[in-house]
Formats: sequence, structure tokens, C-alpha cells
Amino acid sequence: MCGIIGITSNKPVSSSILNSLKKLEYRGYDSAGIATINDGLINEVKCQGRVDVLEKNISQINLLGNVGIGHVRWATHGIPSTINAHPHSTERISVVHNGIIENSVDLKKLLINKGHKFKSQTDTEVIVHLLVEYLKNNKLNESIIKTLNDLDGSFALGIIFKDMPELIIGARRGSPLAVGYGPNENYLGSDSYALKSMTNKITYLNDGEFCIIKKKDIDFFDSKGKKVNKKILHLSSSDQNYEKGEYKHFMAKEIDEQPITIKNCINEYIDKINNEINLHNFPWKKDEIKSIKLIGCGTAFHSCLVGKYWFEQLTNLDVQVDIASEFRYRKNKFNEDCLYIFISQSGETADTYAALNLCNKNNMKTCSIVNVVESSIARDSKFVLPIHCGPEIGVASTKAFLGQMLVIYLLCVKISFFKGDINKHKYIEKIKNLKLLSDLVNKTISAENKIQLICNTFADAKGSMFLGRGYSYPIALEGALKLKELAYIHAEGYPAGEMKHGPLALIEDGMPVVVIAPKDEHYKKTISNMQEVIARGAKVLLITNKEDNQVVSENIWQKIEIENIENDLYPFLVTIPLQKLAYYTALKKGYDIDKPRNLAKSVTVE
Ligand code: F6R
Repeated sequence: MCGIIGITSNKPVSSSILNSLKKLEYRGYDSAGIATINDGLINEVKCQGRVDVLEKNISQINLLGNVGIGHVRWATHGIPSTINAHPHSTERISVVHNGIIENSVDLKKLLINKGHKFKSQTDTEVIVHLLVEYLKNNKLNESIIKTLNDLDGSFALGIIFKDMPELIIGARRGSPLAVGYGPNENYLGSDSYALKSMTNKITYLNDGEFCIIKKKDIDFFDSKGKKVNKKILHLSSSDQNYEKGEYKHFMAKEIDEQPITIKNCINEYIDKINNEINLHNFPWKKDEIKSIKLIGCGTAFHSCLVGKYWFEQLTNLDVQVDIASEFRYRKNKFNEDCLYIFISQSGETADTYAALNLCNKNNMKTCSIVNVVESSIARDSKFVLPIHCGPEIGVASTKAFLGQMLVIYLLCVKISFFKGDINKHKYIEKIKNLKLLSDLVNKTISAENKIQLICNTFADAKGSMFLGRGYSYPIALEGALKLKELAYIHAEGYPAGEMKHGPLALIEDGMPVVVIAPKDEHYKKTISNMQEVIARGAKVLLITNKEDNQVVSENIWQKIEIENIENDLYPFLVTIPLQKLAYYTALKKGYDIDKPRNLAKSVTVE
């Protein structure tokens, strides 16, 4: 949510900043901007819209300067416009910001009373004016500390100064921020992805820290201004994963990558020779865990919901699921026998991170399931289980959802065996079935089905419903979320058995309804619910597995058949046609699939 880049070098920086902003665009695409220092002046170029507009604007001028900051915005305070785009600058200072300053209205009033003039509607601009004010009577470090102390809320900041043209200040509270080390130049970035094309040597700032970046050295300070030493991490993954290759969209590529990411993840966790799930260094003994709490947002929350069904099915543990933004503000009864599991692809989602911090403060057992292992959530959890999916760039989560479910399932099967809830025979059988998963996901992806044809009806629909029971209920929620966020069609996910308690009233002639009914213990009941919607005029797309001849149903509009697999594992397969349905419907409508309107990847504001 908003991307930040900063470079201080011995050569002009604007084209490198532009390249990094293109990579960061998945974090926000409402507006973009750059400021550099050249010839004793701050030069600022900003625009509403995408980085390619900024690039065009910059190509018409010669934006020189060896020190600069850049930003892509996901609007919070103030509409997306050129004036509200970052950087926000006075004649002497320029600032880029990710996060929200919660007391900006009060601060703005105080500053206006002191004679400051504001140009934008953003919360960010107060930071520039506070710094101007403090720098009148204080040295740089004191001014930074005083400014940061005045701010309530969350921020990652990049700041440049006309009078100190060699340096960039980075500061963080709540929102992530990294620095990178290069040859005769150093960098600031809102994540390592932005810096990867320039360096693999990274240091992450901790909450409350700030740093002074010069082209040859970087100094780090804690919130009181005391110097701190930081470790340099060496990142390994190659840049290739960040390219679309021959695909039109990252989402299409990421859907197709699922068999391989599943295989990679299984290879990481399953010892194939000994038929054993390895959770290396799992820190708790079996009697120390008596309940489970799964916490996440959006798609990650849906994987938590699937996890609840698995844990309840395979263990005797009490399992609860929570949306992070609700959990963090409720009066929770913390339980030291509970394992708190935080699910997040990015590992930076503000609400999930805050929920984790709350549990850490209360000394709970915290474990995270993340894709980005260098992320804040991973770093602050007591135990981390990576999903090994590689970068997910499309804003809509696809391969990370399957990866999250897979790691939750592995953890569940392991805990269930380790607590004696399933015997060795069952444990080995589950591992054997897991080994088949990658191939079956592959077959499901490659299966010829009529999805592109089916999409025409969805594209024309005012609304749609997704129904399922058991594991298929959270998958229905996920299918509906994908269609909403990509194709901008109102879609509701519902437990199939709930329809008659109200939502059935929404069904009208021709309304497309997706019914997810693999041949599990809920099959017959779901098929009955399907009949109820068909009887009221719905056009039903049934997603079931190949052997669905138990119940013959007429009047089904369309049917997609998936491969047969053990009941527990159907969520992995039934998700695939739903991802494709959303993808092709959005494609048909001509929408920007990798960057849906109003959204951004990595939601670092609450
Ligand atoms: C939807 C989607 C979001 C994310 C949510 C949490 O396709 O991607 O709902 O799942 O914002 O993000 P992470 O997993 O990064 O915490």
C-alpha cells in the first residue's frame, strides 16, 4: 500500500527510481511522483495515474540529480490527483510516505496557526511542515525525533533536504521499510522487491527506527536517537520470478504456476523417504497446544476458514478463526495453551501484523504462515512456516491461497499425528495423497472446460452467488471475492444450507449461481440446495468431481468436472475453476486484471 523508493548515488538517479516504481506499482497505482535534488534545488514531478504517465512527463524534461525519492500512491487522505500525489515538498524538504497520520487534522491546525501554507488534502503534508518548523532551532537528528514523536499512526518515510543534498532519511513505525547497499550508492525501499534489481544486500528497519543514508554509508538510530548496529541480509531469489514472460497477466502466470509451487512446498516439508512431515524446529511440545486460533484478512482469512474445517476434522483441538481487523480491537481472552497462527502472503498486512503484536505482547505462542520470509510478520513471529510460492505480483491472490492452505494442512496433519489424533497408517496415507496433489492441480488447470464461454453470462450479470457446504463454503467465499475484485460484479459466497434463511429471495431468472459440490459427505445436501435455486430460475454452474453420478440432476446450466482426490484435498482443486472464472470474466470486460480498481497488494494501512 503505497510504494517508496530512494536512491543516493554518484550518478543521476531518476531512471533507476522510475524502474523501481514500475516494480512497486502493485502497491498502489492512483498516482506517482519523483523528487530529486539538483543544483541546490528540489525538483518535483508528479502525476495522477500510473508510472508510465510519470515516465512520459519525465521524458519531456531532463530530471537531473544524484539523490532522489519516488512514490506510488494508494489514496487514503485526499482523492487521487496530481496535487495529492507524493512527494510533498516545500522549497527545502521533500517527503514520501506510506501509512496514515491519524492526528494530521490537529497538527495541520497548529501549523496553519504558525503560518504554514498547505497545498494538498493529504495527511502526509504535515510531516514536511513539522520538519521545517523543528529544523529552525534543532539539528537534523533532533528534528527527526521530534517530528516522529508528534505523529500518531503508521508510517514509512523517505525524506530529502535541499541543504543536505547528499542524504536521504528513512523512518518507520508500523509500515515496512528496507535499505539496500550498492556500489557507490545506497537505497531506501518499501520492500526488498523494489531494491532487488539493484542489490541483494538488504537491512530492514525495526519499528521506531530511522536511518541516514549516504551513498557510501548508512547509520541507523532507535527512536531516541541512539545509534544501533544492524545486520545485512543477503537475498537469494532470482529476478526472473518477477517477470510476466509470455503471459498477458501475472495472474494467469500465477494460476499456471500452482502445480510447481505446490511441488516446491511439498518438497520443503515432506521427507519422501521416511514419509514424514518436517516442521523443522517447531518450538512447542504436544501438550503445550490445546487450541488453535487462525487469523488473517481477505483471501488469507478464507484459508484460515478452510483450516478450521481441517483442524476440527483431524484433531481434537478447539479451533477458532478471526479476521485480523476485528481481533485486534476486541477484548480477547488470551490463552497460553493456544497456538495463534497468522496467515499473510505479504507478511506486511497492517491488521494481521497488529494482531500478531498484540499476541506477542501478551506472551502467546505465535506462528506465521507467510510467503515473504523477510516480512515484518515473519520476523516478529516465534515460529515461521513459509509457503514457498515465489513472488505473487497480481493483486488478486491465487497461488498464495493454495500455498497457505497447503501449509495449514501440513501443520494440521502433523499436529494431529503428533497429538495422537490420527494413527501412523492414516498419517502415511495423508502424506501419500499429498504427493499426488501437484499433478492433480496441473490436470485441473489444463482440463478443457467451457470456462471462457461460461464467462459471457457472468460478464453480463448484475450479481451472482457462490454456494458450498463444509470445506466448499470458504471456497465459495473465495470464489465470490475473486469475481468481485477482478470483474467488479457483485458476488456473494454463502453456505448452501443458509439460502432458505433469506438469500434465496435474491435469486431471479437467469442469475448465475456457482455451486461447489465435490463428492464428499455434503454432496447430496448441496445438490438439494442447488435444486432449490434452479427451481427459482438460477443458471447453475456446478463444480464437482468426475464421479458425480450418485445424484443425477437435470436443468444444470453448466458443469465443470475436477479430478478425484481424497475429500480433505478438494479445496485445492475446486478453487482452480473459480480463479479462471474471475480471470476470464475480467478479461472479457476489459479490466486491468493485475491492478483492479481501488485495490493494492500489501495492505499496510488499517
Ligand atoms: C484478495 C487478496 C486480499 C489479501 C489480503 C491479505 O485476492 O489478495 O484479500 O488476501 O489483503 O493479504 P496478505 O495475505 O498479504 O496478508
